[in-house]
Amino acid sequence: MNLYRALLAPLLFRLDAENVHALAIRGAELASSSPRLCSHIARRHAPRSARLAIEFAGLRFATPLGLAAGFDKSARAVPLLAALGFGHVEVGSISAQPSAGNPKPRLFRIPQDRGIVVNYGLPNDGAERVAQRVGALRARPPLGINIVSTNRGASAPPESDEAVIADYLESARRLQPLADYLCLNLSCPNTREGRGFFHEPARLARLLQGLDTMAQGGIRKPIFLKVAPFQSPADLEALLAAVEPARCVTGFSVNLPPGKPPGLKTPAAQLAVMPGAVSGPAAAPAADATLRELYRRMDRSRYRLIGSGGIFTAEDAYRKIRLGASLVQLMTALVYEGPGVVASINSGLARLLERDGVRHIGDVVGVDA
Ligand SMILES: Cc1cc2nc3c(=O)[nH]c(=O)nc-3n(C[C@H](O)[C@H](O)[C@H](O)COP(=O)(O)O)c2cc1C
Repeated sequence: MNLYRALLAPLLFRLDAENVHALAIRGAELASSSPRLCSHIARRHAPRSARLAIEFAGLRFATPLGLAAGFDKSARAVPLLAALGFGHVEVGSISAQPSAGNPKPRLFRIPQDRGIVVNYGLPNDGAERVAQRVGALRARPPLGINIVSTNRGASAPPESDEAVIADYLESARRLQPLADYLCLNLSCPNTREGRGFFHEPARLARLLQGLDTMAQGGIRKPIFLKVAPFQSPADLEALLAAVEPARCVTGFSVNLPPGKPPGLKTPAAQLAVMPGAVSGPAAAPAADATLRELYRRMDRSRYRLIGSGGIFTAEDAYRKIRLGASLVQLMTALVYEGPGVVASINSGLARLLERDGVRHIGDVVGVDA
């Protein structure tokens, strides 16, 4: 029996979603300060099958399954989160300046769809504070740092293109020495700059040029670009063309689409008072379609993909890997299934590989695309 689902979730679901998120991070932060506790938890949850290990871009992941950005926004709890069995942890999104995000309420559960409606608007402690925190970490799994431009709030005057790009570059400069990879969030569904800014390929090209030519030798860490699911193949081709000249890009990660996807079971009247984007299984169809199309069209000798959106089971993770993802990530399953879901997906994935006679998970990346 899943004790979290049976006992804890019904209690937590009576409380405000954002308060529970803050409580979870605070608890995980406290636990993170005890290396003994973390290594005890890690011994019980670490991925055990060598079949799950995957390497690329000079990084080695014990399992392709990682924690998606947005759970540990300011890198407060990496040791405990890593101990749950994740092969990588992506923190953020982090901006050059601290941000309070959007006004509350801005986080809602929709249990009928096993999803979350999120309208956080990127609250975080800012690059400098996060750099100090990450710099103090000792052993850790591969750490992704997700960066974005500062959300200064709806009443702030619109930023110039140069200011938005400079914000990313400042965070990249400060955080790249501490990260194993950087992920540039180009697609936050819930902020003014996040939504459409980089649909303009010339702006993306300027950002990537800036990274390539950054002071102190440019970017030296792998860079992923987190993009919204594509509306059309033409949008996808435009992105690939804009990225082509940049040498620093290692691959792409797929974000939540803005707004509400079709077919939700939650009544429309409830959704009407929940601004934001929807995570969980309802996000999977658009994310999977984008994953498959990217895998088909991209230069596979050059790029790798990170898939997220509705991973609750080993089968969900396996599907995304077979559609083209070299790494997969989850967040919403932690809320509905509890922290044990990580180890159970890892062992389920190992069983699926054994069933299919696959020796290394990397051998099935993209086989169904
Ligand atoms: C509460 C919440 C906050 C999120 N915050 C961020 C964020 O700050 N940056 C980002 O790149 N993605 C963010 N995401 C998107 C997740 O990283 C992930 O791509 C998405 O939730 C799909 O996975 P899931 O269905 O397993 O949750 C957020 C998602 C949720 C639900």
